[in-house]
Amino acid sequence: MQSYYAARAGEYDAVYEKPERQADLRQIEQWLPSALYGERLLEVACGTGYWTQFLAPVASSIVAVDSSAETLRIARQRVPQSTVLFEVGDAYALEHHGGLFSAAFAGFWFSHVPLERQREFLRGLNEVLEPGAKVVLLDNRFVEGSSSAIAESDATGNTYQSRKLIDGSTHRVLKNFPSEAQLLALTGGGLGQAAAYASWPFFWAFEYRVPEA
Ligand SMILES: C[S@@+](CC[C@H](N)C(=O)[O-])C[C@H]1O[C@@H](n2cnc3c(N)ncnc32)[C@H](O)[C@@H]1O
Repeated sequence: MQSYYAARAGEYDAVYEKPERQADLRQIEQWLPSALYGERLLEVACGTGYWTQFLAPVASSIVAVDSSAETLRIARQRVPQSTVLFEVGDAYALEHHGGLFSAAFAGFWFSHVPLERQREFLRGLNEVLEPGAKVVLLDNRFVEGSSSAIAESDATGNTYQSRKLIDGSTHRVLKNFPSEAQLLALTGGGLGQAAAYASWPFFWAFEYRVPEA
């Protein structure tokens, strides 16, 4: 995963140019900043800063973390605001980034979290957020003909895609497509309150609040 995204950094943003996804993207670009207005935000796996650029003008501050120095180099150029700090880090070790934040956002990251690590990820995230903080996850729905085909699945139920980069290299990438019911079940076990699911033809968003006690 990490070496794949480091190698893909320069061509990553092509995913935002797929013609069939443009209408959804314009709607989400309006919706997301309004959902996180004024927050002291932690952005997990920010990549090249595509979503950071829409959040920076409205958040009171952002710490944006990614494991790849290559994607962060692009993100820093794209998002010049001094209220945004880009840091190399690990989504499973967020305690190194100076919590407690009032909200968190992760775009197109949760689909790459193995099923067996989803609770661990959410627990670690909640620990660096204030009680009552809002969490927003945004990710892909599987759409035949637009999404890369599922090449295989493992015994746990994780699904994998085979992805090719411009240099011809092929990468096996874990990519899960959780349903609304699966997401609600995850937070239902005490990890989140006031959970809500929204969807567009190509994307889903899942919001919850960190439990108060
Ligand atoms: C699908 S990209 C999403 C990028 C960005 N959020 C977006 O929506 O455009 C997934 C990102 O996760 C990063 N990543 C992979 N493993 C990570 C980890 N353990 N901790 C933090 N970031 C990680 C990759 O470098 C990549 O930038």
